[in-house]
Amino acid sequence: MTSITLVQGDITRQHADALVNAANSSLLGGGGVDGAIHRRGGPAVLAECRALRASRYGKGLPTGQAVATTAGDLDARWVIHTVGPVWSPTEDRSDLLASCYRESLRVAGELGARTVAFPAISTGVYRWPMRDAARIALEAVRSAPAAVEEVRFVLFDTSAYEAFARQLDDR
Ligand code: APR
Repeated sequence: MTSITLVQGDITRQHADALVNAANSSLLGGGGVDGAIHRRGGPAVLAECRALRASRYGKGLPTGQAVATTAGDLDARWVIHTVGPVWSPTEDRSDLLASCYRESLRVAGELGARTVAFPAISTGVYRWPMRDAARIALEAVRSAPAAVEEVRFVLFDTSAYEAFARQLDDR
């Protein structure tokens, strides 16, 4: 049975087997979590992302999919890059957001990762409302096959933390 834990903090300072990056399709970095992961992970992470772009993901990593690279200088073995959907007021992209969690867990299970740390995917630059994103994230993790021992959500501020804590209690 996978345990779900919440912490407030910076995901790049977590120790876990895998850290999940809220990437974009280019896999070549950005701001927010992406910027922090590449800054602290160092050039080795970007080098492997570039290699993925030159091979399996010539057109970029599609939204909702996940792929692993080295974690470089981060306190982890792998970074799992996943591309969240941009929130839309007119189109329901919930399943694409859920897919980010499901696919990241599938990749983590294949790697043999026991602990996986997630940020609140799509809730920053991609503007997904936090409460709804927390509901989708927890639902996806709870319904995924128990691929890992611990799923840790690393929330950057108190409002994010409280949104996840409320959803965790709403069993
Ligand atoms: N640790 C944990 N959480 C963080 C960190 C961090 N170091 N930095 C930001 N966050 C939080 C944000 O507050 C937000 O709640 O992670 C959540 C996701 O925000 P973003 O990083 O902006 O990711 P997302 O909304 O999925 O947008 C992805 O932003 O950075 C670019 O290259 C990235 O184009 C992609 C887009």
